[in-house]
Amino acid sequence: MKRVMVLGSSFVDLMTRAPHLPEHGETVMGTYFKMGPGGKGFNQAVAARRAGAAICTAIKLGRDEFASVPLRYMEQYDMNRDYVRYSDELPTGNALIMVDEVTSQNMIAVYAGASASFGEEDFEALKPAIDSCDCLLLQLEINMDFMEKVVPYAVSKGIKVILNPAPAAEIPEVLLSSLYAVIPNEVEAKLITGIPVVWKEQTDEELMEACGKAADWFFAKGVSNVIITLGKKGLYVNNGSEARRFTNYDEIKPVDTTGAGDAFCGGFLAALGEEKDIFDAAAFGNVVSNLSVTRIGAAPSMPSREEIDAFLKNR
Ligand code: RIB
Repeated sequence: MKRVMVLGSSFVDLMTRAPHLPEHGETVMGTYFKMGPGGKGFNQAVAARRAGAAICTAIKLGRDEFASVPLRYMEQYDMNRDYVRYSDELPTGNALIMVDEVTSQNMIAVYAGASASFGEEDFEALKPAIDSCDCLLLQLEINMDFMEKVVPYAVSKGIKVILNPAPAAEIPEVLLSSLYAVIPNEVEAKLITGIPVVWKEQTDEELMEACGKAADWFFAKGVSNVIITLGKKGLYVNNGSEARRFTNYDEIKPVDTTGAGDAFCGGFLAALGEEKDIFDAAAFGNVVSNLSVTRIGAAPSMPSREEIDAFLKNR
C-alpha cells in the first residue's frame, strides 16, 4: 500500500436547494438547507478515506466555530489530524452553494479564508508528511504562492503529484511540469488549454478529438497523464500512449452533483495507493463519483468502501 496525501482547502458548505437557480437579481425560495463539511481538498481527502485509504490530510482552519465541522468529521472517519493547521487571523473558509433540485446542477461561491493563508511555517510543519508520502493530490483553492513552493518540492522528492486544477485559474508553468497527472473538468480544460472541450455541444467523436488536443497541450507542458472529467459524458483518460473513455453507470440517478469531481479525485488517489494503474484507478474513481451523486452534499456524499465493493460486485 502506498502512502497518499491530500493538501488543500477545507470549507464549511452552506447549501440550499431550490426549484431553479436564480437569474441575476432574482430571489428564489429554497426548499432545503444543510450546513456541512466541504472544500475541494477536504472532500477529496474524505472520498479517499471512505474508499479505504490511510490518508494524510493537510488543511488550514480558523480558530472559530466553523472549524469544528471538518474536525468532527475527521474524528468520525478516523482521519489523521496531525497536519491540520490553524490561522490566528482568518476564519475557516466557507462556500455558498445553490443546487437546482430539478437538474441537480449547482452554483458555488467560495470565501477561502484560512485555506488561502498557507505560509512558510506551514511548509516547514508539513514537510515530514510530504516527505513520507508516495502520492500527493492538490487543487487550486489554497494560495497559489504556496502551491508554487510545494509542487516543485514534492516533485524533487520523487513523489507522484496529482493536480485537480479547480476552480479554473491561470496555472504557472512550474506547477504543470513533472506532474504525474492532471484532472480538470471540461470547463477547466477549456480555460487552461484554450481548446474547446464542450460536451453539451459536441458529438462524441468531436468531444474525444477535443480531449485529445487538450491532453496533447498538457503533455507538451510535461504532464504524464491527463484525465478530463466530462459530467454526464463520463471521463477521458490518456496516459500518453493510449486514450480511453469511461461512461457513467446507466442506473445512477443523480440528486446532487456537488463534489462529484472531488469524489473522483479521492477515489482515484485511493486506488493509486493500492498501486492500480492509471486506467484502473480512473475506473475506480468513476464508481466513487457515480455513487456520490446519488446523495445530497459534498463530503457527506462520499461512499464507503463497502458500498463501492457492493456496487462493483453486482457488475
Ligand atoms: O467541489 C465542491 C466543493 O467546491 C464544495 O464542497 C465547496 O466547498 C467548493 O469548494
